[in-house]
Amino acid sequence: MKGIIFDLDGVIVSTDQYHFQAWKQMADNMGIYFDEEINHRLRGVSRMESLDIILERYQGTALSESEKEQRAAEKNQTYKELLGNMTPDDVTAEVRETLQELRNRGYRLAIGSSSKNAKFILARIGLTDAFDAISDGENISNSKPDPEVFVKAAEYLQLPAEECAVVEDAEAGIQAAFRGGMKAIAIGSIREAKLTELELVTFSDLLRIFP
Ligand code: BG6
Ligand code: MG
Repeated sequence: MKGIIFDLDGVIVSTDQYHFQAWKQMADNMGIYFDEEINHRLRGVSRMESLDIILERYQGTALSESEKEQRAAEKNQTYKELLGNMTPDDVTAEVRETLQELRNRGYRLAIGSSSKNAKFILARIGLTDAFDAISDGENISNSKPDPEVFVKAAEYLQLPAEECAVVEDAEAGIQAAFRGGMKAIAIGSIREAKLTELELVTFSDLLRIFP
């Protein structure tokens, strides 16, 4: 293994609560029921696909494509305002130091995120320079579980897929890694699903996997 590709939301930093608050505000405005459990289904899923999941509970007349775009833009505006509160303190010392040590050991690191806000978030938390490449929602046409975001990340790192491993907190992301011909490492509650043999109890366990 020469490259490690990290999902951003839920792996490097926790943005779940901001996604939740922003979607909740939009759902409330539309009179749609929305809770934490539905929010979990949105992990790793693109913005427009997330909206479709929330609209499953919508009782009104079906939305046109432009109305959907408008609602998603409304959500993203709230979300970006919330992200504006993020600072480098939102990244744990464990994550920061582990990334640095992996680089010291010679691994090439990339972000592989479905988010179109990935670069904004990385800038807010002061981690832009911790990665050799960033593949995100801005450079893909197909969201996870399609492997495109990870395939592009490997390309940007100039490494073949089989020399890359992916760290993920979402089922869609683990499937995407496998479909891309990469190893998948699970972190967080998704470990319970036993989708992959490799898992992190805590982020710094990466230092055991990558000597
Ligand atoms: C993923 C999140 O990283 O990005 C999803 O896990 C989110 O919940 C997706 O829907 C798209 O994010 P954004 O920032 O482009 O709306
Ligand atoms: Mg994630």
